[in-house]
Amino acid sequence: MLGDKKVVFSGVQPSGNLTIGNYLGAIKNFSAFSDEYRCFYCVVDLHAITVRQVPAELRRRTYETLALYMACGLDPEKNTLFVQSHVPAHAELSWLLNCYTMFGELSRMTQFKDKSAKHADNINAGLFTYPVLMAADILLYQTDLVPVGVDQKQHLELARDIAGRFNQAYSPTFVVPEPYIPQSGMKIMSLADPLSKMSKSDPNPNAVVYILDDKDTVLRKFRRAVTDSGAEVRPGEGKEGISNLISIYRCFTGKTEEEVIKEFEGKGYGDFKTACGEACADALSPVREEFARLMADKAYLEAVMKKGAEEASYAAARTMAKVKKKIGFIG
Ligand code: TYM
Repeated sequence: MLGDKKVVFSGVQPSGNLTIGNYLGAIKNFSAFSDEYRCFYCVVDLHAITVRQVPAELRRRTYETLALYMACGLDPEKNTLFVQSHVPAHAELSWLLNCYTMFGELSRMTQFKDKSAKHADNINAGLFTYPVLMAADILLYQTDLVPVGVDQKQHLELARDIAGRFNQAYSPTFVVPEPYIPQSGMKIMSLADPLSKMSKSDPNPNAVVYILDDKDTVLRKFRRAVTDSGAEVRPGEGKEGISNLISIYRCFTGKTEEEVIKEFEGKGYGDFKTACGEACADALSPVREEFARLMADKAYLEAVMKKGAEEASYAAARTMAKVKKKIGFIG
């Protein structure tokens, strides 16, 4: 809680072009909280450098991620939109929480295992302690609810454990946060390999639909999506490709599974793939337009970042003061 409102916090890394996985699993759901909750949405640039980034690209993507937040409906007057490195308390709390997090816990994180396999030449300490920084992001604002895709569930559980451990060692200090994982869209799979998650770092551009892809590209990618040799549009064993397309179609149209099955009865995969592409492109076209408008006004984006950093720093300072006092630091 902050004041009389419950708190929502979430973050997105500016580490690549954002995908419809990021959109459907997370960003699309953010604006629903703006009226009832005190919302903080962060561009987590400190997390992004756990893998090597080209400086000019990191800078551009940080602006882009902020602009996308707004293009997806987040009003900076109703939400605190900010860049993680602009609020030093994230790094500071992260250090403190490192001392309340176990080596064994971090070793069990599946994202660490996956990323260290992928970046075997750069298994840095930041990659290992990544979830502690994420816990700091969340706990700093006394967050009640964290909207994320299901891939972040394990990190959320760790954040809860760290909060509980600190509260137990001293006295209640942090709100123990709950994840908010959407029913549909929690895990959008790759269009080229429906057994793996759609990821912004996938080197195969046909595997991924980007939020900013134009209509022709979206249609082409859906047409090429890997499916099975069957013909019936319904989910099932061995039909992971079709099941994934059904989830995507449902997210963009709001239809139930039964409605989708009925709509495509007697029609082939081709028709269904075209319909998926159309629904996705239509939903994203206003986002793309608004994004282009916002990116043309860097001064405005910078003003939003600055205001966001001030609001976030103010809220973060309250938690930091409390934490330092409990630990025994001289204020
Ligand atoms: P990131 O940048 O990888 O992804 C941003 C959000 O998108 C969700 N997501 C997906 N959802 C469904 N299907 C997919 N294929 C898919 N791919 C990504 C992610 O679950 C996430 O919600 N560690 C976080 C960023 C972070 C954060 C935080 C999130 C840092 N601090 C504090 C919440 C709270 C991450 O890497 O997200």
